Amino acid sequence: MQDHFTGQLTRIQGRLLPGAEARRDLQYDHERRLAALDRVGAAATECGLRADSDRDLVLLAEDEVSLLEATGDEWARFGAAIRDLRGLLPLRSLEDFGFPGTPLAETEGEAAANPLEESNARLRRIGGGVEAWAFAAEADGSVYKFYLPREEGRIGSEFGFRRGEETTLRAEAGLGSYRGLLEKLLLVHALGGMATEVVAVTPEGIVVAKQALGEPLAQGDDMSGSLPAGLIEIPSRFLRANRDHPRLFFLASSDAGTTRPYLVADLHARNFVRCVDGALRVIDLVAAPWPATLTAREPAVADWLARVRHDPAASALPGARDEDL
Ligand SMILES: Nc1ncnc2c1ncn2[C@@H]1O[C@H](COP(=O)(O)OP(=O)(O)OP(=O)(O)O)[C@@H](O)[C@H]1O
Ligand SMILES: [Mg+2]
Repeated sequence: MQDHFTGQLTRIQGRLLPGAEARRDLQYDHERRLAALDRVGAAATECGLRADSDRDLVLLAEDEVSLLEATGDEWARFGAAIRDLRGLLPLRSLEDFGFPGTPLAETEGEAAANPLEESNARLRRIGGGVEAWAFAAEADGSVYKFYLPREEGRIGSEFGFRRGEETTLRAEAGLGSYRGLLEKLLLVHALGGMATEVVAVTPEGIVVAKQALGEPLAQGDDMSGSLPAGLIEIPSRFLRANRDHPRLFFLASSDAGTTRPYLVADLHARNFVRCVDGALRVIDLVAAPWPATLTAREPAVADWLARVRHDPAASALPGARDEDL
């Protein structure tokens, strides 16, 4: 299938849910995109370039270093890495998605209108505001989310960690990185959530993601009994978070080569939808890689992490039930 806006291959159309094979392909694309971004970062460092935020890396154009590529292997690697990333995260303009070409920057002292505030002839606004502006395509109902960058090249939401008082760690949601946003979209998908693609990034640094359309739930519905499988409850003496239902999740890579722990949370009713098959699926969450270097120094947490990795039902203390602690 071709995407209505970009003409690129897509596996998402309206309310339809992609099958198992298409879902595996989608997850693999997320992984390859993250790996490509890492290679661009590593290659830039090798060339002696320091990016203030990964926004600069995400926006590098294919021809940016072409003149330097003949000057050395590191520049050739940098050029190749940029082209790889561009193949998995194309640059597209907001006009390609039917929005007026208003610049987002201020003009003559007046703040420019945010072109995403309004529906356009091809996209109808359906929600959002904190991280993303969500629209449904008039043509087929597919959902397009536009993640707007914030100050200092930050985008989306991600957890940061600090030591707590009654708890080992406190996780606090704040502005995130481009890498964190791409990783969040992978996690939504990997948790058996709504099929999610990354469609493009605009020259302004807006990330465009696409999802199948579902029915929103009523705000305030209790989700504690319907969280995705594979999420492990975290003893509150180890970690508290300022978002609903903080959980540990081991993300397995498609090739089953690695399994990495993440904190996943913000699993409230507005971040789920009901799909055509009647199932609930997560559409959004807040996450961060589990702060393993911090918790490695905490024997009780490190020990628990090692045990739940092998047995998700393992309790916080060997031989004890968490309710009894
Ligand atoms: N796939 C979808 N199907 C149906 N509705 C959706 C879908 N994705 C998003 N929406 C609607 O748009 C809203 C915002 O989407 P999302 O949660 O991804 O962005 P957000 O910026 O994190 O928003 P919020 O801050 O409100 O959580 C959702 O609460 C939902 O009402
Ligand atoms: Mg949300």
